[in-house]
Amino acid sequence: MPEDCVDKPHIVTCTAPVNIAVIKYWGKRHEELILPINSSLSVTLHQDQLKTTTTVATSRSFQEDRIWLNGKEEDINHPRLQSCLREIRRLSRKRRNDGDPILNATGLSHKVHICSVNNFPTAAGLASSAAGFACLVYTLAQVFGIEGELSGIARQGSGSACRSIYGGFVQWLMGQKEDGKDSLAQQVEPESHWPELRILVLVASAERKPVGSTSGMQTSVQTSCLLKHRAESVVPGRMAEMIQAVRRKDFAAFAELTMKDSNQFHATCLDTYPPIFYLNSVSQQVINVVHRYNRHYGETRLAYTFDAGPNAVIFTLQQHVPELVEVVQHFFPPETNGGQFIKGLPVNPVAISEEL
Ligand code: DP6
Repeated sequence: MPEDCVDKPHIVTCTAPVNIAVIKYWGKRHEELILPINSSLSVTLHQDQLKTTTTVATSRSFQEDRIWLNGKEEDINHPRLQSCLREIRRLSRKRRNDGDPILNATGLSHKVHICSVNNFPTAAGLASSAAGFACLVYTLAQVFGIEGELSGIARQGSGSACRSIYGGFVQWLMGQKEDGKDSLAQQVEPESHWPELRILVLVASAERKPVGSTSGMQTSVQTSCLLKHRAESVVPGRMAEMIQAVRRKDFAAFAELTMKDSNQFHATCLDTYPPIFYLNSVSQQVINVVHRYNRHYGETRLAYTFDAGPNAVIFTLQQHVPELVEVVQHFFPPETNGGQFIKGLPVNPVAISEEL
């Protein structure tokens, strides 16, 4: 049983970290099953940093399934929540029918009460749904006695969530099958592979993003020919190059691919009609500062990436962190632009599987 997963008779609490995509997922070929139009690759953060904590309680006396997110009750009938609950209960039923004795597993008829909290701004482009659904599925799996592959279930909650099931460097293979059975996450390298790699998050805005990822990528699929070109002709080669860069611990190659992929993702947002703007003026300044910094040293020491929001994630190596912190504080003092470091970072990516 993982260390910080406290399994009391009918209550299980787990945590799951955010992952940051360096080759972005943007666009689905199947909305309900959440099947992507391209593979993607991410780095999972350390458990202690940006994380979701989920508690699932079960009791014979509960009348219905219920869920609270950050203290507020939400609609349990949300189709994606229902997909995850249905899949977990189906697998649990199958194990029982196969005659597998599931120790400590909850009764299938028991209803669940789910409480989930994030220690970072929700829906501000900080991959909250990734940590949220990964944590939900992992915790439910503990409750219902499911073992093995969980990324395919987490994917049905939110695409990027499938990658948070694993630690370290993780690829989500888009798969080919119509039923999505081969659209799964896979660890490329464990978190111990590249201990010098550091990630800093610069919060440019903690506000809710104006266009959510789900609807944003839907419009992009419908209207952007750049997205089609990216998915078919750019990402396959980039995935292979990124895996090589990670395996060789080649920061310059990793950084260039990361920045180019972030830029292309935001270019597809601009190519979407009507266009979607996730970056703000602070994000653009971060991009300029990173390129100026790298040019100054004549080598690539920093890389930025941005998801569906203006907050910057900066990758660097351990030895450059003190200077990077000074640079950021100089160019982006919190009192002038509202930007701030998330406390506790830099972080070292660590596996969900080891930490739970
Ligand atoms: C820009 O996983 O939030 O962060 O599958 O519709 O829930 P849904 O979308 P979501 O999209 C994440 C998009 C991204 C890039 C990435 O994480 O790969």
